[in-house]
Amino acid sequence: PKFDLVVINAAVVTASDISKCCIGVKDGKVQSLANSFTDDELADTEIIDAEGAYVMPGGVDAHVHLCQDLKTGPHGLGGECSDNFETGSRSAVAGGTTTIITFATQTRAEEDRSLLKVAERYNARAEETGSYVDYGFHIIIVRNDADILENELPVLIKDWGISSCKLFLTYATQRLTDSQMLDVMFAARKNSITTMIHAENGDMIEWLTGKFIAEGSRIFKTDSGTEKLESKGMVAPYYHALSRPPLVEGEATNRAIALAQLIQNPILFVHVGSVLGAANVRRAQTMGLPVYAETCPQYFHLTWDDLKRFHSPTCFENSKMICSPPPPPTAADHEELFVGLSNGTFTIYSSDHCPFRYDHPHGKPSGVLEHEASMEGEKPCSGEELQDLLERKGGAFRSIPNGIPGVETRLPLLYTGALASGRITPQRFVELTSTNPAKLYGLYPKKGALMPGSDADFVIWHPEKTFSPFNLTNSMLHHNVDYTPYEGIRFENWPRYTILRGKVMWANGKITGKVRDGEYVKRGPSQLGPVSPRVTRDTRTIADWLYE
Ligand code: URP
Ligand code: ZN
Ligand code: ZN
Ligand code: ZN
Repeated sequence: PKFDLVVINAAVVTASDISKCCIGVKDGKVQSLANSFTDDELADTEIIDAEGAYVMPGGVDAHVHLCQDLKTGPHGLGGECSDNFETGSRSAVAGGTTTIITFATQTRAEEDRSLLKVAERYNARAEETGSYVDYGFHIIIVRNDADILENELPVLIKDWGISSCKLFLTYATQRLTDSQMLDVMFAARKNSITTMIHAENGDMIEWLTGKFIAEGSRIFKTDSGTEKLESKGMVAPYYHALSRPPLVEGEATNRAIALAQLIQNPILFVHVGSVLGAANVRRAQTMGLPVYAETCPQYFHLTWDDLKRFHSPTCFENSKMICSPPPPPTAADHEELFVGLSNGTFTIYSSDHCPFRYDHPHGKPSGVLEHEASMEGEKPCSGEELQDLLERKGGAFRSIPNGIPGVETRLPLLYTGALASGRITPQRFVELTSTNPAKLYGLYPKKGALMPGSDADFVIWHPEKTFSPFNLTNSMLHHNVDYTPYEGIRFENWPRYTILRGKVMWANGKITGKVRDGEYVKRGPSQLGPVSPRVTRDTRTIADWLYE
C-alpha cells in the first residue's frame, strides 16, 4: 500500500490554520496532505474517518515528573513519584499527549556532581519499563561546579540531545543563590541550553512558614512530664498557599528577568501561576527580551478555596491540592490568566504532572497517624522514615510533598476551559500544547507540526456534536495516583484517538499501543525567539566585554 494509515475528512488544526483535508502516513511520518485520495491510494490501508473532528499534532507535555524517588524527589521534601515511565506515559497517551519531557535531577550529594551520570540514571529508569510516548529529559542543576558546567554541558547537548536545564530559586535542597544562577546561566548560554526557572522567593516562603508554624503550634508538658507538640491549624494545607502569596512569584520572576538580562540568555519560567508573575513576563517581553512562560491547568481550575475544602486543624485531605506555586487566590485570577493564554504572554501550557499517592506512606498524608502497612513490594519504613512520616501526617504543610497529577487531563481541561468556551482559538490551542513546546525545546518540526516529513503524531477529538459531556472520576484515568484534583469536573470533550508515529495508541477509550512503542528523542537548541537576545541600554557595556 501507498500509505500505512490514512485519516480522511480531517479538520487539520495547526498553530496557524484549520484546513479540511486527508492525511497520508507512511513509515511513521506524515507523507502527504491532500484534498482527497483515490481508491487505489486507499487500498489495503487502515482508514480513520475524522468527519467533524479536529485533528491536531499530538500533545507535547514539557513538564512531567516521573520516577523521582525519595532521594531525588522533585523538591527535597520527601515524597516518591508514584508514576514510572510505564504508568505516566500510559496516562499521557490516554489524554492525547505523544511526547513528554521529564526531569533528570541532580542532587547536592557529591556522587551526583556529574550531570552525565544523572542523565544515564534516569535513562535507565525509562528503559526499565519502556514508554507509551516519545520522551526526553530536562536536566535539573542544583550546583554550580565550574568543571562540570564546562566539560559536561557540551556533551549533554551533543550526545544526549538535552538542550534545557531547570534551576530553582526555592526549596532548601535545590535553590541557587543569584551568583550561582549567573554561573549556570552563563554556561547554559554558551552551550545554547535553554534555562527554565522555578521562580519563587525561597526566603519569603521560609519566613512566612516559620511565622505560621510558630503561631499555629505550642509545646506543652503532659501530666507524665513529656513534651508534646500541639498544632492549632496554621500548619494545615491551606497555609501552604498563604505562605506563597502572589508576591513570592512576583519578586522571583522580576529578579530572574534581571539576571537573564545581564547574561542575555533566553529563559522560560515554569509553572507561572500568578497574575503578578504573568505581568512581569509580559513587561519583559514588551522590552524585547527573550522571556517565555509556561502555565498549567491548576492555575485555571483551582483556587485557594480548594485547599480548604475539608478545612479543619487536623484534617489533611487538602494535601491533595498542594503544589508550588499554589493555585491563585480566586476565580477572578483565572480570568486574568486566561488573557495571558490568549494574548501570547504564556508560551506553553504543560501539566507539571507530579504524582504522589494519597494512600502511600511516601505520598500525600491522609490525616491518618499510623503508618499503614507497607505497600505491596515495599520494604517497611526505617525508624527515621517513620519519624518523618509522623511529622508529615501529624501535620505540617511544610513537609507535605508538593505536586499534583495532571498529564492525562491537560489537553481535555484546556479544551473545556478555553477552547469550547471560546477563550482561545483551535490554532492557539495547538500552539500552546504542541507547537510552541516543540519549538522551545528543539523538537520542531519532527514534533509539534502536522506537515509532510513530521512524525505522524496526532490527537483526534470526538466531533463536538456527537460527544456527551461527562463528569470526571479518578477511576477513568490511567495514572498510578489514587486521586485527581479535578474530580467531578465536567468535560466537554476527550481525545478519541491518540496516534504516535502512525500507530494508534489510544482509541475510543482504550489503550491500543504497547509500552515499548515510545522512543527517546534527542533535542536540539531552542527554535523560538531571537537568536541573539536584544542588548538593552542597561546591558550594552557589559555585553561588550563579556561577549564581544
Ligand atoms: O508542586 C510542584 N510543582 N511540584 C513539582 C516540583 C516542581 O517544582 O515543579
Ligand atoms: Zn518547579
Ligand atoms: Zn514540576
Ligand atoms: Zn514506607
